[in-house]
Amino acid sequence: MIILGIETSCDETAVSVVEAEGGLEDLRFKVLGSAVNSQIEMHREFGGVVPNIAKREHLKNLPLVLTEALKEAGLIFNFQFSIFNSENPRIDLIAVTVGPGLEPALWAGIKFAEELGHKWNIPVIGTNHMEGHIASVLFSKTEASFGFPAVALLVSGGHTELIYLNNWLEKEKIGHTLDDAVGEAFDKVARMLGLPYPGGPEISALAEKARNSNIEIRDIKFPRPMLHSGNLNFSFSGLKTAVLYYIRGITHPKSLSYHKRGTFGEPPSLVVGEGGLGDELSDLQKMEIAREFEDAVIETLLTKTKKAIDQYNPKTLIIGGGVIANKALRENLLNLEKDYPELKILIPEKSLTTDNATMIAAAGYIEYLREGGNKELKAQGNLDISS
Ligand code: KG4
Ligand code: ZN
Repeated sequence: MIILGIETSCDETAVSVVEAEGGLEDLRFKVLGSAVNSQIEMHREFGGVVPNIAKREHLKNLPLVLTEALKEAGLIFNFQFSIFNSENPRIDLIAVTVGPGLEPALWAGIKFAEELGHKWNIPVIGTNHMEGHIASVLFSKTEASFGFPAVALLVSGGHTELIYLNNWLEKEKIGHTLDDAVGEAFDKVARMLGLPYPGGPEISALAEKARNSNIEIRDIKFPRPMLHSGNLNFSFSGLKTAVLYYIRGITHPKSLSYHKRGTFGEPPSLVVGEGGLGDELSDLQKMEIAREFEDAVIETLLTKTKKAIDQYNPKTLIIGGGVIANKALRENLLNLEKDYPELKILIPEKSLTTDNATMIAAAGYIEYLREGGNKELKAQGNLDISS
């Protein structure tokens, strides 16, 4: 069957056309066409995604992105294609993200999907964005065959989770962040350093530069939060605050004495303004901070993932989410095969790490195979992983 995936949960407007075959035991997918429009430039000046701007841009861009994906799939041939006047170009099913994400942004995709479904007289399945990140590995060249049970580590701008999968339909969340998601921590630390949104790629480039340079990098040590917590949960807010204190310590050493120790949140004297404190740091200092922050994140994620593997003894480790675009993290996670030679490690191709609709089409197909799937087309900002 041919599935049209639609993704608008955050700042990417994405549409994909995917051919899906097989049952839950032998899923097979082929990407026929895919288009993504990123709104990053639009949100950059605000230092993060503004939900109503995201919605407006999705509404504007959806018809264009759809047309591009259908053309690439060879299902339409002229630029005059109009969703309101054209026949169904052989699509059998629409899969649209219903959550988690920014509700105004999600609604834009849902309304568009409903309209198309009605016009083309085909079913529309509500799809979970995080299940999309899990399904993103089904397009990887290393996928071949793998077995359940599996453990999935999902790291994105909004989530940091460990999921246990008994099979494609039976899932359980076994770990989550108690505060910031790891991508969010990257974005916030980048902002402190005066780097643009989204911060992940910026920090990652600086950290890599620090590792590969011959310059002597000072030994800073940031905390590895919850490493010994005895469970599989994460916390990145303390690490973020440690970075802020460190920066304040070198830029405004006296201001630290005004802050009462042991209070929660960021004291007013430490709140970072629009441009962060980046202007007051040298390039070398930024490199040192980026490298140590990234090392702390990687060590934390690796330790918790190993703990989950030891505890649940899975046959497969699935890794997904935008933060997996991070080269050092990717390499470290792939290196786990040395410690666990029996474990199959699945990771998406780089283009499928950040938000896209190809993964939504795949997750939508899996959802469809669950006795018809989720027909409730309602934006659910905090939608949890289904079980
Ligand atoms: O999955 P995603 O595209 O969107 C959400 O579902 O949230 O993830 C976006 C997050 C952002 O926080 C971004 O900074 C982070 O992924 N990210 C990275 C890298 N590329 C994107 N974080 C670290 N290193 C990267 N190279
Ligand atoms: Zn995502």
